[in-house]
Amino acid sequence: MEALEQFFSFVGVLVCLISLVKCVRFAQYVFLHFWKPSPRSYLQSMGQWAVITGAGDGIGKEYSFELAKHGLNVVLISRTLEKLQAIAMEIERTTGSSVKIIQADFTKDDIYKNIKENLKGLEIGILVNNVGMLPNLLPSYFLNAPDEIQSLIHCNITSVVKVYCLLICTFRRKGLILNISSGAALFPWPLYSMYSASKAFVCTFSKALQAEYKGKGILIQVLTPYAISTSMTKHLNPNIITKTANEFVKESLNYVTTGDENCGCLAHEILACFLRLIPSWAFYSRTFQMFLLTQYTDYLRQNVNVKQNFYK
Ligand SMILES: NC(=O)c1ccc[n+]([C@@H]2O[C@H](COP(=O)([O-])OP(=O)(O)OC[C@H]3O[C@@H](n4cnc5c(N)ncnc54)[C@H](OP(=O)(O)O)[C@@H]3O)[C@@H](O)[C@H]2O)c1
Repeated sequence: MEALEQFFSFVGVLVCLISLVKCVRFAQYVFLHFWKPSPRSYLQSMGQWAVITGAGDGIGKEYSFELAKHGLNVVLISRTLEKLQAIAMEIERTTGSSVKIIQADFTKDDIYKNIKENLKGLEIGILVNNVGMLPNLLPSYFLNAPDEIQSLIHCNITSVVKVYCLLICTFRRKGLILNISSGAALFPWPLYSMYSASKAFVCTFSKALQAEYKGKGILIQVLTPYAISTSMTKHLNPNIITKTANEFVKESLNYVTTGDENCGCLAHEILACFLRLIPSWAFYSRTFQMFLLTQYTDYLRQNVNVKQNFYK
């Protein structure tokens, strides 16, 4: 009887300790959200250059501007040359930082030699592995989704690994890698199966590497945001949950020293906590899928700002 009592006391203490650790972790985000420390000197201490993939639009474009504003020179890698040229001019004009652009299509596998050549000789301290694609914004069954499996694997998975391989050896003593995953990676999302799985890869890869490199001065952080209003989300109306890319990037840079994983903003951290409360039998039920296919789809349709080709 006494042994049983001791066992339950032990379990109780363990649960309290785990809850305490979670509260402290959460309080850290609340504190940093309101305090907004400027990470300028920290970011600059990493090296002269930052490399951003998928820098031609959305989140990648905002990271490029923000890092340049923090005094770094930036290498922009993305698909559309005209967009890169326009952003490069704007960054140079508004921040005075140097900008280098590399055109590359990450759905292809033969682009990395050219990227490596173009990065030679630069003192790179920061990498934002941001490029990614979401073939179906509207939820859809795997076999009904656009057939872009190979492109998605190249763009969302191969790019993260290969750009990482190109850069990790060039880091001198220090380095910061931000891998942009998604909230859809935190647990498997039905009706977004390929996207969710590809982003889960980014999470796992990132956290495993951080364990390997922790002692070597290299910080690898994976970000798991939910909705951000960008081209990918057809410029969904921003609200308390749907952040603008600018809001998200600015806030996420406050959390770069908080550990190997976060959602990048407080609102999404809270949302993730709520979603974790949903029991898996409910999350993976037919009813939840019907909810995604009906109410959630209607919500998306009513709130996107690019209606063209969206009702198919
Ligand atoms: N938006 C969200 O709600 C959200 C939420 C969670 C995670 N994320 C992740 O955040 C990252 C950025 O998303 P975003 O919303 O900023 O996307 P976005 O607005 O569509 O911008 C993506 C950028 O990547 C470039 N790109 C796309 N495919 C490419 C390819 N095959 N080769 C080279 N460049 C390519 C695009 O080039 P172009 O300029 O030529 O189009 C664009 O500049 C992605 O990894 C995404 O999965 C987004």
